[in-house]
Amino acid sequence: MRKALVPGSFDLVHNGHLEVIARASSLFDEVLVAAVLNPGKDSAMFSLEERREMLAESTEHHGNVSIDFFDGLLVDFARDHECNAIVKGLRAVSDFETEMQMAQMNERLSGIVTLFIPTSARNSFLASRLLREVARYGGDISSMVPESVNQRLRDRLREQGDVT
Ligand code: PNS
Repeated sequence: MRKALVPGSFDLVHNGHLEVIARASSLFDEVLVAAVLNPGKDSAMFSLEERREMLAESTEHHGNVSIDFFDGLLVDFARDHECNAIVKGLRAVSDFETEMQMAQMNERLSGIVTLFIPTSARNSFLASRLLREVARYGGDISSMVPESVNQRLRDRLREQGDVT
């Protein structure tokens, strides 16, 4: 059985993530989507449980996608869960340098290969940080995220007293 690991921060889940997961789902028998416990960039907008729920709600129709969390080295998690490959989305050339470096490090550490799936042009500019910022200033991101994610985001911004 071929099992892919799709890792990420997923703070928040957007259509670019979902496109990569959908493509992995059609190429592999099983897909494990793993959200990093501590995204470590700025403080996370969504808790672990919220990120898990957003991913589960948006991927349940595939039937072969499960959701988990990980901490520590990605390749240790991949080995523990018997994943054959790591799958990452590539949006633009600007992603390539960092992603290539991580792929080569992960391959050296574990022998596990990384497969890059290009996002479609329609989704190539999507990034969680940018979407959070646009929404915070009142921009409409409803065509770029699932409806359930948009609703959660609006609720969170309302709780925080930001523009919705
Ligand atoms: O959504 P992101 O922020 O692009 O996800 C990056 C992530 C979580 C996949 C990456 O930071 C990662 O793999 N972190 C785990 C720690 C690790 O294994 N670091 C070495 C990478 S070569």
